[in-house]
Amino acid sequence: MTATPATPPGPTAPPTATSPTATGDDGFDFMSPFSRTGTGSSKWARTGGTPGVIPMGLADMDLPGPPAVAEALERRARHRAYGYTVCDPAGRSLVADWYRARHAVEVDPDWVLLLPCGPRTALRLLLETVRPQAPVLFPTPEWSGFAQICRAAGLPHLELPLHLGPGGYRMPRGPFPSPAGAVLLSSPHNPSGTVWPSGSVRGLAGWAADSGALLISDEVHGDLTHPGARHPVAVTTARPEDRHHVVTLNSVGKTFNCSGLPSSFALVPDPALRTRFTDTMAGFGLWEGGLLEQTVQRAALREGGPWLDALLAHLVTARTRLTDRLGSAVRSAPRASYLLWLDAAALGLPLDSARQALLERCGLESSDGADFGPGGHGSLRLNYALPGSVLDTVLARLERLDLR
Ligand SMILES: Cc1ncc(COP(=O)(O)O)c(C=O)c1O
Repeated sequence: MTATPATPPGPTAPPTATSPTATGDDGFDFMSPFSRTGTGSSKWARTGGTPGVIPMGLADMDLPGPPAVAEALERRARHRAYGYTVCDPAGRSLVADWYRARHAVEVDPDWVLLLPCGPRTALRLLLETVRPQAPVLFPTPEWSGFAQICRAAGLPHLELPLHLGPGGYRMPRGPFPSPAGAVLLSSPHNPSGTVWPSGSVRGLAGWAADSGALLISDEVHGDLTHPGARHPVAVTTARPEDRHHVVTLNSVGKTFNCSGLPSSFALVPDPALRTRFTDTMAGFGLWEGGLLEQTVQRAALREGGPWLDALLAHLVTARTRLTDRLGSAVRSAPRASYLLWLDAAALGLPLDSARQALLERCGLESSDGADFGPGGHGSLRLNYALPGSVLDTVLARLERLDLR
């Protein structure tokens, strides 16, 4: 492999300055290299410290987060009161304001639970709360967390293959296996970045309500929906009579690139389920609110909008450059987030060792499609949330592939 260095690898060296050196017209710099050296980045650890390898596997961004979050953390850290905190109910209204401003939907602040844990833990806690007697269903290929959580919780699960047609992935129309205890959905879809049509989400919510199941719509990529596409927020997309069977889960961690500070929020229209959920949390020593979580959520939701708009413009440019280059190797047109789901055969890579082959030929580290369950074998997931300068290197290296 003759990779040229991108940004310095290695999660263990002392931290270096991480602030951008140049700013764009909007004041945010997503072009210059952004060093994560010394920050203990899990994503960079996956390169094994091999010089020149660009990590494109794990789902976080090699881009500087919102200045407002950094400033809020600094301000709060300067006050040396780090004792237990209570939940500020104004945080719930802030979430409702966010949905009104960004998605033009009305979320009742009473539905909002501000969770002191990341989305993965929140999903597990929700399933512990519901403790479904019947299997948990989810379409595949899918983020591996769903299967892992079900296994860890000892819950039987059934994977439903998504239909892949010329227009990309389509949600299965049913009939779905019955009985079902819960349905999990990543919306937008991880790994492909597909934004599901609102009719599909409404249909799934209706089916869940008719079957006595709970639809848990994992929308941690929802605020990263690209301009021109519309993300269906499940709790407001469902018919009002089906809402009590739907939960939307979201986090500022994915949206604002601060997943290392675990937090999330759930929209739970059913008051009885909210009570049971908070009871379950208390059993694990978790309560709504949390010192750092609230600090980050407040700053991100109040002040992060302009940063997010600039980020989305950057991601759309990156997406277009890559999809123009990779053509039909892209399995389903991404309209959200920063994930590309690729057909290894169309990239000219061996199906059984595509990840290794991409690493050796191009110095690009990726996620193996097999990790995404049935329908994932022979695919690769690439995360393109990279500075523009690094993306130039990625595109140059992709020239080494023989696209079919
Ligand atoms: C769809 C989806 N849900 C949940 C998570 C889990 O997030 P965390 O590990 O921050 O809890 C991820 C992470 O990539 C994700 O893509």
